[in-house]
Amino acid sequence: MNDVLSHIQSNSERYLRELGDLLAIPSVSTNPENAADVRRCAEWVAAQLRAIGLEDVRVMPTPGHPVVYGAWLGAPGKPTLLIYGHYDVQPPEPLDLWTSPPFQATVRGDNLYARGASDDKGQFFIHLKSVEAFLKTTGTLPINVKFLIEGEEEIGSDHLEDFIRAEADLLKADLVMISDSSMFARDVPSICYGLRGLTYMQLDLVGPNHDLHSGSFGGSVLNPIQALAEIIAQLHDRNGRVTIPGFYDDVRPLTRKEREAYKKLPWSDRSYARDLGVRALYGEKGFTTLERLWARPTLECNGIWGGFTGEGAKTVLPSAASAKISMRLVPDQTTRKINKLFTRHLKKITPPGVTMTVRSLHGGEPAITPIDSPGVRAAISALEKGFGKKPLYQRDGGSIPIVVQFKKILKIDTVLLGFGLPDENAHAPDEFLNLSNFYGGIRTSAHFMDELPSFMQKSRA
Ligand code: BES
Ligand code: MN
Ligand code: MN
Repeated sequence: MNDVLSHIQSNSERYLRELGDLLAIPSVSTNPENAADVRRCAEWVAAQLRAIGLEDVRVMPTPGHPVVYGAWLGAPGKPTLLIYGHYDVQPPEPLDLWTSPPFQATVRGDNLYARGASDDKGQFFIHLKSVEAFLKTTGTLPINVKFLIEGEEEIGSDHLEDFIRAEADLLKADLVMISDSSMFARDVPSICYGLRGLTYMQLDLVGPNHDLHSGSFGGSVLNPIQALAEIIAQLHDRNGRVTIPGFYDDVRPLTRKEREAYKKLPWSDRSYARDLGVRALYGEKGFTTLERLWARPTLECNGIWGGFTGEGAKTVLPSAASAKISMRLVPDQTTRKINKLFTRHLKKITPPGVTMTVRSLHGGEPAITPIDSPGVRAAISALEKGFGKKPLYQRDGGSIPIVVQFKKILKIDTVLLGFGLPDENAHAPDEFLNLSNFYGGIRTSAHFMDELPSFMQKSRA
């Protein structure tokens, strides 16, 4: 291990340069204009996997963006780790809010700024470098590894489930490792054991069959923007609860143990509110902020449009209005049932005078992962060595839909080992990755691979 760790230390500047090359590729999966960049990014990752010494590297087609696969299976009898990540990124807009260009990785202080630095290029790259450190110093790895780096996570991983089904043999492993979430806080490493699910809907409201002069027609027909605003305003009550009948029916209550554990975490509502620039927090009554973030479902309006939004004034009574609404789900809610309840309720509260269509855009199921598996115990030990601190247990509010599919289809559990920070501006301007965590992550990943066999063996004995 000493050779591996000193190799990591002495190559740290090269890692940063290479990550900068990866971050320079605008692999925005949702934007058709970036399709060639997404493809180029897949090829870049494949070339990296070959360069670090993996043997069976492929860029595998899907009906959407390709999946990159690579493996090193030279440790027969040892555990096999499937490392999942995503090389696609969210759009960088609005561009004028970036301090440095989003696809030009820039170091400021102890942070590396670029779109994808934290979510997820910088995080999956951590595991590539620990594998490389082993192969370049010892010529071997303590375990077998398979990499599965996809290009459609940010748009719902629509083709990955079929891919996993079709390639179940190729992907066979004992454990999945995902670094695509956050540590609890700066200098507070953590193991994540739960993620929320997500269902994303679009509402389109149509009133009169064309735009109208608001003077000639205002007062005679319902304005679809008003109808939409009233509908959205009705979706929460005064206690911050979602009003859709049946919405909470399948929510698994927090255990007493969880509530007590969350209360012991280092947390301050006041400094959280201050950091976000709000004078008061908001959410479902009867739950703490962490409980609401990690273990309670939510409904958010993500966007709303209609009518005239240009410079100046235009007196128009618009024909249509639309909104994007997403709901975060927790065990044991399902996207299927919530979509049904949502659609039925929205149709019911739509006033006469407008017609509404409801469409589901994408979704993923909520996940709880084991907290006492040998993989988790190995991760805890590795974090302690990599960061010099005992990690905490946490859940997180974000969603990684594929976690549930790994369990259902491949029957394997996932270890969620996040090296990001909650305030690294994922999906927002000035996204960054903290470099201490980047290097701590590489050390942790190396320790994890080193220790996994003995933790797996202990659990078998
Ligand atoms: N890395 C995030 C998920 C995440 C964020 C996990 C924060 C834990 C904490 C992932 O790339 C992501 O953004 N997922 C989407 C869901 C997807 C279906 C579009 C999300 O959570 O909005
Ligand atoms: Mn991600
Ligand atoms: Mn993301």
